[in-house]
Amino acid sequence: MSVNFRRPLISGNWKMNHNHFDAIQFVQKLAYLVTKEDFEVVDVSLNVPFTDIRSVQTLIDADELRFQLGAQHCHFEENGAFTGEVSAAMLSKLGVKTVIVGHSERREIFGESDETIYKKISAIVKCNMTPIICVGETQAERESGATEEKVLGQLRSALAQRSPEQVGKFVIAYEPIWAIGTGLTATAQDAQSVISAIRNEVLVLAGAEAAQSVRLQYGGSVKSSNIAEIMEQPDIDGVLVGGASLDPDEFARIVRYRLLA
Ligand code: PGA
Repeated sequence: MSVNFRRPLISGNWKMNHNHFDAIQFVQKLAYLVTKEDFEVVDVSLNVPFTDIRSVQTLIDADELRFQLGAQHCHFEENGAFTGEVSAAMLSKLGVKTVIVGHSERREIFGESDETIYKKISAIVKCNMTPIICVGETQAERESGATEEKVLGQLRSALAQRSPEQVGKFVIAYEPIWAIGTGLTATAQDAQSVISAIRNEVLVLAGAEAAQSVRLQYGGSVKSSNIAEIMEQPDIDGVLVGGASLDPDEFARIVRYRLLA
């Protein structure tokens, strides 16, 4: 399973950064730095705050940009009395293509459970968008040798009873929690090892075709200085970038990683 024919997906997770004015400036600058040739070999998603979505969508449409509009969260119900929430249906109406789900910050700070995450994935799929499903272990779990147990447990919960066709279109991001925003990165080999275990588990859960086509990202302190080595790994099909996605110059270098190798 080492032949990598999947299109790489480089995703920028802005978290709670950049207002809609900043977002417009960012996208204009990035559009200038990333070329047509780049888009022939790589997909790029911009997972922006809710308040930026409409502005970025307008820009993407007007200038026919090839960035995929992305969100970072949604509610699993279509509508109703959920003060402050935004539904998957509302996002898809705005042209959103990918939604991050199960990020460790949402699990830890906002108490999202595996069950909530499961329902969110179902809502995202129902609206024909792609979930970017995050899984990852804490430092203590890694030190006690429980990395695979944790990561594969989260994966099994997210994928239970889904059709192979659905699973094959998913994006799964392995994000060791201890590497997020800390400057610490898993070595490319460690990331490859967990990510290949994820692919094997997808094989068990959803079959060979799904395992061949599901895209697996690494996330956690990715930057232009380590992207090339990460992307060289046979099972790594992309990256989910937080801090380093906030600067258009740095993010463009990451998107164009093949020129750095
Ligand atoms: P980081 O964040 O790149 O700042 O470590 C990654 C993420 O949380 O998705």
